[in-house]
Amino acid sequence: MDDLKAKYLGQIADAADESALETIRVTAVGKKGEVALKMRELGKMTPEERQVAGPALNALKDEINSAIVAKRAGLADAALDERLRTEWLDVTLPARQRGHGQGTMHPVSQVTEELTAIFAEMGFAVAEGPRIDTDWYNFDALNIPSHHPARAEMDTFYMSRADGDNRAPNVLRTHTSPVQIRTMEAKGAPLRIICPGGVYRADYDQTHTPMFHQVEGLALDRDISMANLKWTLEEFFSAFFEIDVKTRFRASHFPFTEPSAEVDIQCSWVDGQLRIGEGDGWMEVLGSGMVHPSVIAAGGIDPEEWQGFAFGMGIDRIAMLKYGIPDLRAFFDSDLRWLRHYGFASLDMPNLHGGLSR
Ligand code: PHE
Repeated sequence: MDDLKAKYLGQIADAADESALETIRVTAVGKKGEVALKMRELGKMTPEERQVAGPALNALKDEINSAIVAKRAGLADAALDERLRTEWLDVTLPARQRGHGQGTMHPVSQVTEELTAIFAEMGFAVAEGPRIDTDWYNFDALNIPSHHPARAEMDTFYMSRADGDNRAPNVLRTHTSPVQIRTMEAKGAPLRIICPGGVYRADYDQTHTPMFHQVEGLALDRDISMANLKWTLEEFFSAFFEIDVKTRFRASHFPFTEPSAEVDIQCSWVDGQLRIGEGDGWMEVLGSGMVHPSVIAAGGIDPEEWQGFAFGMGIDRIAMLKYGIPDLRAFFDSDLRWLRHYGFASLDMPNLHGGLSR
């Protein structure tokens, strides 16, 4: 009986799974199992022998059964442990990024926010106008009559109108200057506005794209002079480039200003690197002048009483200068690698107290 016990307890201990265990149970303590066969032999024994062998066989049967129950529980625990080990999931891992994560602010948007913050500090409000405008706002009201060569020089995109209404908007504005007229009409004088926005000209090379961005400036009051214009621009460039920047005014001509000046900012080239605000080189950045009396009159304001300055500056241009971006065309390619490289964090708006540059 000791042999039986050792055999079956050993097999039970070695059983690899539930079905092996069941096979052992049937052969050991099943109805036709080895222990049952032994019990049948009890009848052939003497009463004395039976009294010893009977309880011993029952005890053996109980012991095997409880070993099986314990082993079954052990196998179930091991199976659960194995599942816990292999089906393990680290819920503390950061989530996998969907797509490529955060988008960025385009340099044009960033620089528009930057310059808006600077001019706001100087009391300039933001004004807007339509990108598709009329000949009147884009040209005539700005003292550019139809025979004027400036119209031809502008490489204007015209839109043909199916309805043949030739007083309806038909020009993609070639500059932000029409917003001068619209704002004078809407607000009267005095006036201090900037107008950032997209403009269009048929041109395409490393520094020209058919759509680009300008910011117009207009200040109208009773005693505005070129000196105010120069101060405003130097103040602006120094805040924008975060270094004192000298400006150079060169006499020029625009139909809508008299006198007119093109403005350069101080710069240097060191080892092929452009530095703004140092050295004795000059970089042209804008056109400006005293608003022509005919333009003030076209805006519905009395030029005898009011005068002022205006300027128009390329936003993309100063963005390229500030952030070292070599090719204007890349601004409009929507190349994600470019946007990730030159883009700015969204929700991180520039302002004068928090700092303009990123
Ligand atoms: N509108 C002019 C241009 O696009 C710039 C300008 C604006 C010049 C205002 C003088 C005054 O070239």
